[in-house]
Amino acid sequence: MKINPTSSGGSYGTKIADLYIVHNLAAVNGNSRCTYHVMPPVGWMNDPNGFGEGFGKYHLFYQFYPYGPSWDSMHWGHYTTEDFVKWKMEPTALAPDGKDDCDGCYSGSSVMKDGKMYLFYTSVAGGKQTQSLAVSEDGVHFEKLGVVLSGDRLPAWCARSDFRDPKVFLREGKYYMLAGALTEKKEGAILLFRSDDLTKWEFVNAVRRDALTTRGIYECPDFFELGGKDVLLTSPQGYPTEDWRYENVQSSLYMLGALDVKRGEFLKEYEDEIDGGFDFYAPQTLKTRDGRIVMIAWMQMWQRFFPTAKHGWAGSMTLPRELTLRDGRLFQSPVREIERYRWNPVRFSNATIGSGNELTKVNGSKVELSFTLDLGTAKQAGIKVFQSGERDARIYYDREKDRVVFDRSRMGIEISHDADEKDASVRSVKVEIKNNRLSMRIFLDVSSCEVFLNGGERTMTGNVYSDGDGISFFAEGGTAAIEALEKYDIVV
Ligand code: FRU
Repeated sequence: MKINPTSSGGSYGTKIADLYIVHNLAAVNGNSRCTYHVMPPVGWMNDPNGFGEGFGKYHLFYQFYPYGPSWDSMHWGHYTTEDFVKWKMEPTALAPDGKDDCDGCYSGSSVMKDGKMYLFYTSVAGGKQTQSLAVSEDGVHFEKLGVVLSGDRLPAWCARSDFRDPKVFLREGKYYMLAGALTEKKEGAILLFRSDDLTKWEFVNAVRRDALTTRGIYECPDFFELGGKDVLLTSPQGYPTEDWRYENVQSSLYMLGALDVKRGEFLKEYEDEIDGGFDFYAPQTLKTRDGRIVMIAWMQMWQRFFPTAKHGWAGSMTLPRELTLRDGRLFQSPVREIERYRWNPVRFSNATIGSGNELTKVNGSKVELSFTLDLGTAKQAGIKVFQSGERDARIYYDREKDRVVFDRSRMGIEISHDADEKDASVRSVKVEIKNNRLSMRIFLDVSSCEVFLNGGERTMTGNVYSDGDGISFFAEGGTAAIEALEKYDIVV
């Protein structure tokens, strides 16, 4: 087959990828495929990239390897959406087919300027990581403009090996870039650069620099303003576990405070983990046309076994989530547009629960469920989802530990994990229990479970690989009750 690399603006590598996708779509087995979450059409997906608005829609690019369900030389896949629920697959945006990016087009961000969309990405070649730029006049085809920031711009105390994941944004009339880097002393750092024109960059300062990333760097910085504060997100590798926080082998955290771009300092007021589940990494945000900050993350974790790989794909994205600040903390709720896709409402106003109650018509594996648990006298009370016989995943409150627990150890398949990780089957978080009550909003989508606790004060995200669609409630060591339950099928 003859392919003309210049015919429609896409590069040679993106055209090969798109042909491959078209010819191999049917080989992806539907098992475990989500129905309302973003997944790769074939092959492998990791981080969201370039999440932003342009040409009248929202764009989500992502780390993509079309040719197999495991991480390899990175492309940028591309989806667009009007409402964050229905997504349209676009041609592959970037492929590792240039001299500076022949080993991969790693993560990065997008900005719109003078009607054009610019993608900033980390170009990898021969062990060197540099920051490159690509431009598009239609939001579909991208032309690479080459390296705009290389290791020679780094201060002397930075190692040249790890320098990646540029997040570019406009502030006070200038462009700024945050990027993860490693110092010569093996400290993780987040560096700030400044530019007037997107192409010439000067180093400002390290907004964060410490030895807490025990096996790498602060990956994938993201930045936005919310409720009068500056918010910096990042995904540290090997961050130390603090009690129930940061239990995954790689974590995601947010810092609240104020970014002084002139001095390149982030005056931190608060820091916390973003999600307390198993599968959440490298979140990115955008600002919607109506002013909301929406975040999306990779719904997987590094150094784990990916059970869907045998079906020809691996990796998906979380539901896009709206972020708000309340009492100086970040709250998350699913993007409100998902409510347009609710079907078959089922409601219960009150039900006492004992050792395992099923409520009529409360079942399913593509559903939204919300309820308040009156914890009564129970020592443990909660919900079992994806239930089939002895298999299930449980989310419950444990009174003695004063934690909400997400336990997927009975799902019927064990997720093997990194030796440094304690386990990959139980996570817990602490939330505020008021009036002996806990509220949960849960989204199930075939193999994913996202839990929003107490109106989004904490979230727990995890994949559950079970073929069951049973749902039941349980209380142990006493009784508890369900108040105001609502359940909907989500049909997209
Ligand atoms: C984070 C990450 C990034 C890198 C990309 C490569 O998950 O390691 O730092 O750019 O993935 O796929």
